[in-house]
Amino acid sequence: MCGIFAYLNYLTPKKRAEILELLVNGLKRLEYRGYDSAGVAVDTADDKDIAIIKKAGKVALLEEEIKNRSSELNMDGSTDIHCGIAHTRWATHGVPNEVNCHPLRSDPHNGFVLVHNGIITNYKEVKVFLEKKGYKFESETDTEVIVKLIHHFYQKHPSYSFRELVESVVQQLEGAFALCFKSKFFPGECVATRRGSPLLVGIKTATRLATDHIPILYSKEDHPTSPINKDADSNSEHRPYGRADYPTLPRTGSTSEFEPLEDKQVEYFFASDASAIIEHTNRVIYFEDDDVAAVKNGSLSIHRIRRGGDDPHKREITTLKMELQQIMKGNYDFFMQKEIFEQPDSVINTMRGRVNFETGNVVLGGIKDYIPEIKRCRRLMLIGCGTSYHSAIATRQLLEELTELPVMVELASDFLDRTTPVFRDDVCFFISQSGETADTLMALRYCKERGALIVGITNTVGSSICRESHCGVHINAGPEIGVASTKAYTSQFISLVMFALVMSEDRLSLRKRREDIINGLRNLQDQIRQVLKLDDKVKVLAGDLYKKKSLLIMGRGFNFATCLEGALKVKELTYMHSEGIMAGELKHGPLALIDEAMPVMMIIMRDPVYVKCMNALQQVTARDGKPIIICEEGDKETLAYGYKTLEIPKTVDCLQGILTVIPMQLLSFHIAVLKGCNVDCPRNLAKSVTVE
Ligand code: AGP
Repeated sequence: MCGIFAYLNYLTPKKRAEILELLVNGLKRLEYRGYDSAGVAVDTADDKDIAIIKKAGKVALLEEEIKNRSSELNMDGSTDIHCGIAHTRWATHGVPNEVNCHPLRSDPHNGFVLVHNGIITNYKEVKVFLEKKGYKFESETDTEVIVKLIHHFYQKHPSYSFRELVESVVQQLEGAFALCFKSKFFPGECVATRRGSPLLVGIKTATRLATDHIPILYSKEDHPTSPINKDADSNSEHRPYGRADYPTLPRTGSTSEFEPLEDKQVEYFFASDASAIIEHTNRVIYFEDDDVAAVKNGSLSIHRIRRGGDDPHKREITTLKMELQQIMKGNYDFFMQKEIFEQPDSVINTMRGRVNFETGNVVLGGIKDYIPEIKRCRRLMLIGCGTSYHSAIATRQLLEELTELPVMVELASDFLDRTTPVFRDDVCFFISQSGETADTLMALRYCKERGALIVGITNTVGSSICRESHCGVHINAGPEIGVASTKAYTSQFISLVMFALVMSEDRLSLRKRREDIINGLRNLQDQIRQVLKLDDKVKVLAGDLYKKKSLLIMGRGFNFATCLEGALKVKELTYMHSEGIMAGELKHGPLALIDEAMPVMMIIMRDPVYVKCMNALQQVTARDGKPIIICEEGDKETLAYGYKTLEIPKTVDCLQGILTVIPMQLLSFHIAVLKGCNVDCPRNLAKSVTVE
């Protein structure tokens, strides 16, 4: 997904080479989100104009291009006040080429330049409006309308501040966006805003900040009319494209609108996520939807267009706990590989301070106060996308067993398509590694509007899902950089298991079951280490499979989710067809696929569905299928078949899926390496899917 990075230094001398290096490094930290082109905009050597440098392909190519243009950019020249913006683009409207790449410009003289993450859904109407005004479009993007619209407002209202112009523009936009503007008419200033897409700012000062928050400034309601309404006064084309339901922007125009930070020497880092900022500062502000943040004369102000009564009056400056080391590859060749091998520790981090293995007590601080309400609910709904959805499938059976509540598991997109009935006494869980997935966030808002209790299960502190939930559980898996989700899955799985344990703590009849599960959790770290030792064996299997066209993965019961998750991993990483098949469904269709040539994997554990799984095995082998079997360590009966096997240590049935999924993660990883695929950034995919 697109990544935004912007850097503004105020009274902090920097060479142009340093500024460009900083911008490019910021983009490198965002590479994992997935992208297909990259660009930067900085002031020209004489500070009078803006230079835009763009390149299709990787950030390394952009870096090369910057080097090629170094004499023109005056790399040794130093500047005290400067704003640079940068972007990695994940194409949605128009192919990934240099014209469509961001920053996009308002006009051939680069009056305004813009980077955007998200999708503008009413861009066609805005474009028609601007074309009538004489604007010529050069790209196929939805973004270009935004930067041309601000230019249009600037020409109409030259007295407006940069922030007021941005506020005027965002009122006219529909869709999801995070925006960062730079302008040659407002040198040394930067204005950023968001609605639906993530954005934060890091603040670095020479001495400690004198404040722990930035006040929110609201426009007064008795102020003059908005720029757009002024347009309307003089122009019958008013709001040809706008949000009729969006409130009118009143102007403040007051000089007191900028609340200066006391330390004047300051640097600001705007970014789509914290990984691009952490090496510079750990002091950040996460913006909320409709915040308009402006830096002018080195001071940051956050304005809002008043929309309701319960908006908070300040934005806290948060101290990030993340270390740079956590987002580096360390001794591994790929982030995904590192993240798979981190699982013995990440599962412990998920349980730390929550599961007391001595007393059998489980406490989830983030939802503790809501447990009585949850116990009274009508049903639990677990909602997510991709891997996060699979973690819900993996734990549904246990949740049904320990809570005795109906549990619905929903794909966020489908849930919204169906306009599913939701009631005030529903409890809705939104599971998301990034906490920014647009479909999941939309589903959350849909359920919240209907009065349901919203529980977030996320890995990203400060993310939209985390902020918009009533309560929740941070899965604490640590930053996950590889596009393919691995350690987040096992931590989501454990978080939901812990929730089931909390819900059943006073049930005497379940005491033994709870003890077994807590014991299972206690042994997980060692057992995961044991499974990871299968790596070499899995690599050999990958060698047998990487030239095949398809891979079927079969299982049922507690291990069905592993089949779905394994198939998703194989698909996204290796571009090979793969399907997770419920073994109970074999006779209803998939059996027709089986012959001696079809690669098949089967997950057969000695759990309550063992006999049924053995039955499925016979159905496959009777058709000359030669499955690779993931089975329980020492299971003589299964091993007697003589097929290739991966033996997995035994744990309690409902946790077995945490162990069986790891060989599938390793297998997809090795196949991807053998096929020469981009492991950390598979084609066409993004880490954080912030568009619907
Ligand atoms: C998993 O490997 C995928 N990259 C993808 O399915 C992912 O899980 C999905 O997009 C949901 O993301 P989220 O957990 O950040 O909401």
